[in-house]
Amino acid sequence: MTTSSAPGKVYLFGEHAVVYGEPAVPCAIERRARVTAEPREDGRVRVDAADLSLDGFTVTWGGDIDDRPDIDVPASLVEAAMEYIDAAVAQARDAADAPDAGFDITVESDIPLGAGLGSSAAVVVAGIDAATRALGTELDPEEVARRAYEAEHEVQDGQASRADTFCSAMGGAVRVEGDDTRTIDAPALPFVVGYDGGAGDTGKLVAGVRALREQHAFAADTVETIGDLTREGERLLADADPESDPDADLLDSLGELMDFNHGLLEALGVSARSLDAMVWAAREADAAGAKLTGAGGGGCIVALDPTPDTERALGFAAECEQAFRAELATEGVRVEEA
Ligand code: MEV
Repeated sequence: MTTSSAPGKVYLFGEHAVVYGEPAVPCAIERRARVTAEPREDGRVRVDAADLSLDGFTVTWGGDIDDRPDIDVPASLVEAAMEYIDAAVAQARDAADAPDAGFDITVESDIPLGAGLGSSAAVVVAGIDAATRALGTELDPEEVARRAYEAEHEVQDGQASRADTFCSAMGGAVRVEGDDTRTIDAPALPFVVGYDGGAGDTGKLVAGVRALREQHAFAADTVETIGDLTREGERLLADADPESDPDADLLDSLGELMDFNHGLLEALGVSARSLDAMVWAAREADAAGAKLTGAGGGGCIVALDPTPDTERALGFAAECEQAFRAELATEGVRVEEA
C-alpha cells in the first residue's frame, strides 16, 4: 500500500491565456489531495473517495470505476473525478509496464472540486505517484508531471495546459509557457482565498474563451495582454529576495497586476457575480490585489494581504462560503506512507 499526496494551487497570473501559449505563474498551496493505492490481484479498480472538498461538501462512493456514485454533488464533477482517476491508473499501468494491474484506490482531499484550486491535477499527480510506487516503480516529479499532463489532456479533450499538473508535481511557484515548464523563486506571498461554495466547468469555460478569441480581435488581444502582465509579474518576482517576507511595494505592484488580470478575465467572460463580489470585498479590505483563480465561472478568488483584514472581510461577504489563508507549498508530490 502506498499513499502519495500533491498540493493544489492558485494562479498568481495567467490562467486561460496559458492555453494559447502565453506564460502563467501558478503557485502550489498547502491544501493537498492524498491518494492511496493498493494493488489487486483481479485487475479491477475500486475507488473510494471521501472528503473531496471543504467542510459541508463531502463525497463518498465505492464501487467499480464504471459505477456512478450516489452522492449529492453535481454528477458532472464526480464523473470528471472518476475519469481523472481512470486516466491516472492508465498512466501508472503504462509507467510500470503492468497493463493488467488492478488497484484499490482511496482518495482524500481538502481541495474543493472544480473550484479553481487544481483539485483534479492534484488527484491525478498523487494518483500516478501512488499507483506506480505501489507497483514498485519510482518516477521523478518531472515524469509524474509529464504523465499527469497526458492524463488531464485526455480527460479535457486536448484543452489542458501543463500549468496545473506541473505546479502540483513540483510545488512552489512555477512558470509555464507552452511546453516550457520551470520552477521559479518566489517569496512567501500572503495568499488569502475566498470560496463561493460553487464550481465552474473548466471544459466549457476554456471552449468559451476559444470561441470568443476566434470571433473578436479584442479577445485575442486580451489573451496577449494577460501574457504581457504575467511577464511583468515574473520580473517583479525575479527581483525579489525569496528568503525574505515580501515588502509592501512588491505586494502593491503584484496586486495591481492581479487586479488588471481579473479585469481581463472578466472581459473574456469567465468571471461570475460571486467571484466579482469577493474580489471587491478583498479590495475594499485593502488587499494589495485580488483576482479569480483557475478556470472561473464560480469557485475561488485569491488575494494578497499580510494582515487579517481580507480574510475577515471575506468571512462577512454574503457570496463567500469560506475564506482561508493559503501558504505556499514548497513541496510538490510526496510519499506519505509506503
Ligand atoms: C484551469 O485550472 C486553468 C486553465 O488555464 C486551463 C488550463 O490551463 O489547462 C483555465
